[in-house]
Amino acid sequence: MILTQEKSLPDNFLWGASTSAYQVEGANLTHGKGPSIQDIKKVPEGTSELDVCADFYHHYKEDIALMAEMGFKTFRFSVAWSRILPEGTGDVNPEGIEFYSNVIDECLKYGIEPLVTMFHFDLPAALEKKGGWSRRESVDEFVNFAKIMYENYGDRVKYWLTINEQNMLTLVGEVIGTCNLDGVTNKYKKLYQENHHMLLAQAKAMKLCHEMLPGAKIGPAPNISLVYPASCKPKDVLAAQNFNAIRNWLYLDMAVYGRYNNLVWKFLEEHDAVPEMEKDDMEIMKEGHPDFIGFNYYSTATVEWDDGSGVEGSVDQQNGGSELGVYRSFANPNLLRTEFGWEIDPEGFRATMREMYSRYHLPMIVTENGLGAYDKLTDDGKVHDNYRIEYLRRHIEQIKLAVSEGVEMMGYCPWSAIDLISTHEGMVKRYGFIYVNRDEFDLKDLARYRKDSFYWYKKVIETNGTDLTD
Ligand code: BG6
Repeated sequence: MILTQEKSLPDNFLWGASTSAYQVEGANLTHGKGPSIQDIKKVPEGTSELDVCADFYHHYKEDIALMAEMGFKTFRFSVAWSRILPEGTGDVNPEGIEFYSNVIDECLKYGIEPLVTMFHFDLPAALEKKGGWSRRESVDEFVNFAKIMYENYGDRVKYWLTINEQNMLTLVGEVIGTCNLDGVTNKYKKLYQENHHMLLAQAKAMKLCHEMLPGAKIGPAPNISLVYPASCKPKDVLAAQNFNAIRNWLYLDMAVYGRYNNLVWKFLEEHDAVPEMEKDDMEIMKEGHPDFIGFNYYSTATVEWDDGSGVEGSVDQQNGGSELGVYRSFANPNLLRTEFGWEIDPEGFRATMREMYSRYHLPMIVTENGLGAYDKLTDDGKVHDNYRIEYLRRHIEQIKLAVSEGVEMMGYCPWSAIDLISTHEGMVKRYGFIYVNRDEFDLKDLARYRKDSFYWYKKVIETNGTDLTD
């Protein structure tokens, strides 16, 4: 629809940006923190270890001051489970509790609402050694961790996110360093059993949040990309429905309605991968009731029918994705790509928001969206990232259109507030508004510089999204 009348964004729209603990903090095995699975993985060749990252652990005051200068209304960050509970359960690390308490206070000092992700790809290594999410015990271990966070931060944190990109943990865990399938005979059985436990953990954590913190709001944070059919051939449409169900709706149907998506259920039956359940599980799932949906969006996906003769596999969170006899990845010829090969699709963002709202009717907040690029710091300390401004501008335009069409949007938190280490493509794949002066292996001085996008976003926030020019 071409709109002739646009509505403004709500006055309390939560402008901000996001980070995650293991990608930004550093201090990964100090100050009482136990290792997470990210700390014991073999990092992809040519990329940095995670011991320093952007050194947010030691720079958080400076970084939050810069976010305040941009006018942030919210800052989305995650709590590292193994910084709070070095073994995943048992003794609490007081220094860890204090660190996030300080981060929260620092945000509040500037009127920035903390938006806390409980779990972002960094399961404590001690739990992984016992079998991680494949064990039923993992449900209560997560709920115990959630309870500790509610007890310590619930007086100040109003917005919570449960699990970052649970769908990517299930679909591309090997690429983002969260799972190892060596020696596994039926990967679907393993992955969807883990997924079932995470869904239960999420539902219980949401219920507990409502019981312990009546004024707080909580929601999931999957990566949602509408899946297009490669053509109007009916079989391509079926393939797109298959991937939509497997990639997107499984996670939201369960979080919001407490039910397994029927197409996914069939897919699991076909692969002998129906999860083992206890008798009350579906009751527990129904008791979750998110207050909103957080979602990460980078691009859409496109698939065609697969007759069983294609090649199976996924490249990463946005690239590729094929399942024999279910769907086959298709490069959309209508879209440009980033330097890292991710398709760019602002209109698809609007289509995704429309579709999500029509399915779930809950307010939504964008918890990630952004452009990874090889930014260059000039000799006079500038970063001319007009490509990032262009990407973000075109996505914000689509939020405004979606809002005009009646979609309830609570806020926008692009990835990322400051430069950090990518899931598998290192420090050189930068996303931040704030440049961190280090290279892949040379730590330099870790000084912070304001990119051109910093000044642009400041103005966007100041005008509540009405002025998107640079
Ligand atoms: C999301 C993750 O998948 O995308 C982030 O939640 C990640 O952790 C972001 O960094 C960008 O992906 P990448 O692979 O470029 O780091």
